[in-house]
Amino acid sequence: MKTLSLIFIASALLVTSFISLANASFSFVETAQDDANKVVVFVSDAAALSGQALQLNQQSDGRFAALLELNEFTPSSQGILHLQMVGEVDDVLVIGIDSDKALDGPALQNLGGKIAASLSSTSKDVEASVFVDGLSSDSSITAAHLAYGYHLRHYSFDKYQSKKQEGESNITFVTPSANENENLYANDLKFIAQGVHLARDLASEPGKSMYPQLFVDTVSALFKGVDNVKIDVLDVKDMEKYNMGALMGVGKGSIHEPRMLVIEYTGGKRGDAPIALAGKGITFDTGGISIKPNTNMWMMKADLSGAAAVAGTMHALAQRGENVNVIGLMPLAENMPAEDAIRPGDVLQTMQGTTIEIISTDAEGRLILADAVYYAQDKYKPKMLLNIATLTGSAARALGDEYAALVTRNMPYSLQMMEVGEKSGEHVWPLPLHENHFEQIKSDIADIKNSGAGNPGASIGAAVIGTFVADDLPWVHLDIAGVDWLSSSIDVAPKGSQGWGVRYMDQLVRDNK
Ligand code: BES
Ligand code: ZN
Ligand code: MN
Repeated sequence: MKTLSLIFIASALLVTSFISLANASFSFVETAQDDANKVVVFVSDAAALSGQALQLNQQSDGRFAALLELNEFTPSSQGILHLQMVGEVDDVLVIGIDSDKALDGPALQNLGGKIAASLSSTSKDVEASVFVDGLSSDSSITAAHLAYGYHLRHYSFDKYQSKKQEGESNITFVTPSANENENLYANDLKFIAQGVHLARDLASEPGKSMYPQLFVDTVSALFKGVDNVKIDVLDVKDMEKYNMGALMGVGKGSIHEPRMLVIEYTGGKRGDAPIALAGKGITFDTGGISIKPNTNMWMMKADLSGAAAVAGTMHALAQRGENVNVIGLMPLAENMPAEDAIRPGDVLQTMQGTTIEIISTDAEGRLILADAVYYAQDKYKPKMLLNIATLTGSAARALGDEYAALVTRNMPYSLQMMEVGEKSGEHVWPLPLHENHFEQIKSDIADIKNSGAGNPGASIGAAVIGTFVADDLPWVHLDIAGVDWLSSSIDVAPKGSQGWGVRYMDQLVRDNK
């Protein structure tokens, strides 16, 4: 009994210590405090200052404008300038704004991220006031988006470092619409940022500390007490019952059994068909018997990014109480070489009843997703289905860091899905899906095989998954192999795992509820 409770405590600790707290707090006020000695202002025309920038200039007897000139500051190049001792103010961060362009949500979020990076570059702990009066936007809601972008950027995975990288940030936004902005941030956008951070945490965790059951435990714990959520976990026995040979096959070489985590969120009307989101959760991808080369194999600890993004999205939707039904499916397995691992040439049975010949055990993501998307349709009869995965190097080579690969069955739908990307700040670009891609995966000894002759790899991967998705179901395939792990920072994220997909899927749900 004693040992039992000790074990329980230990595992509970493990789970709670896992969640990284972004130490940032944001407040929204209509008038500035007098003692604000670190301020952020936006300047779109250095020769015709207005708002808080003009005030700073007056208070400093023209020193502000003189410093801008001395530093050859040009707003249109989106320059950033740190100034000291301007009038009563110790520190001023000046951010150049192109006044010709009205800033939309994602642009403001990028700015917020820029501010986070700039402020924390000079001191770990940050206390500052941001004056939004210099921004050119069509909306009065700018501060909430700045805060959201700041929150997104304010992240570091430092749990294994003895010296913590992140300090605390207390940011005050000075805006005439303080209440509206506060509302949007605190009841909505904040939860997306938290979902993104959760996804980054899960993807950054070393493979040794993030195997299928631990993913299930960690994520499930976060939904305790959250309304309208039901969690279902399939273990190997359940998978046997459903004939999920593809998912079980991939997991066979690992000492950690595969799982499928299913989060059902019923915030919508009872009986309304849900949206299904399925994410690839390979907790480590060695390639299996078709083993990968050494270079960069360590990055394959992040091969569960699709599942991590689904978990983050579900958490965001549930926390902000979105009025919709969504099912999140996370097939989880570790792809290891071992004496009982699947071999190239093996044939696996799927839940659909069809068989897959394994050409490469390294093309494992499509295998676990085959069973997951089939299960999603069979059990939940969704009105649309999205799957998200770090699926192919091919997608990464084609599209680089900026766009995730998007595959659907028709171009108008792809255009609609690109629009979701524009609105969310996470961009997608279409790749084709052709009859011939399905021809290329016909097998000599099974129904299909898990990889084709080679090119075009991303489309072939999509075709394998598409084989398990009903032709008439609106279906979106996202290959995030190129975008999820970045080797340098962007405005809204430090380098490393991006938690890519949380913002996209959150927007997709908003647009399709
Ligand atoms: N997880 C990898 C894809 C990947 C590559 C993700 C680089 C992130 C960065 C996937 O399981 C894989 O190994 N894909 C193979 C498919 C091939 C064997 C058909 C690939 O892309 O080489
Ligand atoms: Zn993989
Ligand atoms: Mn692989």
